[in-house]
Amino acid sequence: MTQSIDETVDSLAIRWHSNRLSLLDQRALPHASDWIVYDDAASVSQAIRDMVVRGAPAIGITAAYGLALEAIKLGHSANAASLRSALDVLATSRPTAVNLFWALARMEKIIGEQQGEQLVTALTREAREIHREDRRMNEKMAAFGATLLTQNGSVYTHCNTGALATGGHGTALGIIRTAWSNGQIDGVYAGETRPWLQGARLTSWELMQDNIPVTLVVDSAAGHLMQQGKISAVIVGADRISANGDTVNKIGTYNLAVLAQHHGIPFIVAAPISTIDSTLASGGLIEIEQRNGNEISRLGSQSIAPNNVNAYNPAFDMTPAALISAIVTERGVIAEPNAVKMTAHLRA
Ligand code: MRU
Repeated sequence: MTQSIDETVDSLAIRWHSNRLSLLDQRALPHASDWIVYDDAASVSQAIRDMVVRGAPAIGITAAYGLALEAIKLGHSANAASLRSALDVLATSRPTAVNLFWALARMEKIIGEQQGEQLVTALTREAREIHREDRRMNEKMAAFGATLLTQNGSVYTHCNTGALATGGHGTALGIIRTAWSNGQIDGVYAGETRPWLQGARLTSWELMQDNIPVTLVVDSAAGHLMQQGKISAVIVGADRISANGDTVNKIGTYNLAVLAQHHGIPFIVAAPISTIDSTLASGGLIEIEQRNGNEISRLGSQSIAPNNVNAYNPAFDMTPAALISAIVTERGVIAEPNAVKMTAHLRA
């Protein structure tokens, strides 16, 4: 069916309406719901950089819309050459989440095929399809992932992998939503996720909106909870997974995987195929974004450390595949992932 050029697509934090992009400002949550409207690629790239929008799939969707906005501005002069600088600026927004590059590659493929108003229509259609498709993938992933939760109890999650971070439902949080509605889990422990507090500000808010019992803990409480027998599984998302299953995700994920292995607790990674980067053989090759030390030495506008303290702020870390019990995608479950199983999964 042909989609109308100005058709609306809406999810919790991303709205495409009347050929404009609106983003829910995730820096202001949970106490304010401010929407910001965008109409060109440069401001969309800045929004990704500043974390107005964040989470690997949401970054990819937003970048695709950023390119569509630029094409709309160019109108009849939209073509491969005139869109080049927009593609380049969007590609520099953030380095780690491969979904950004995956979405731009999908858009670039379309640019090669046509130009002018026809190209504008094709790019806006593709961006909306990337947005809608992500929700469908998450629902499939959630159904596969829920089959892994065989023991009742509470699960532990890190960062925010929900509807705010995706086109809807969520990756790790999508599994948790589905498992809760199936009666498979008793509740969720959300690690606060220092320094940006995605767990405290976003995950606990999303779960409370859905009336899913959530308990917020400091990140350093994870080992204690596992030792007390309170965690039946750890479920996290991913920003990039290499060809052998090594997984880069929010800083602190690796600590959780080591702890989970020590305590014999399943450690599950949920991510769409668009998060797998089969061009990189192992996780050590994935670029880890370094963010400003101010995110650590301040809480909001308040300084919590000596002035000018030296602070090191990697946004992500790498969990080796050997520590991962299963990777769940929209195609199914890869138990105890390795390079051979990952290749077979991608070919299936
Ligand atoms: O820095 P962020 O908030 O963009 O980091 C997000 C994460 O690390 C998520 O776990 C990951 O992107 C998966 S989101 C479905």
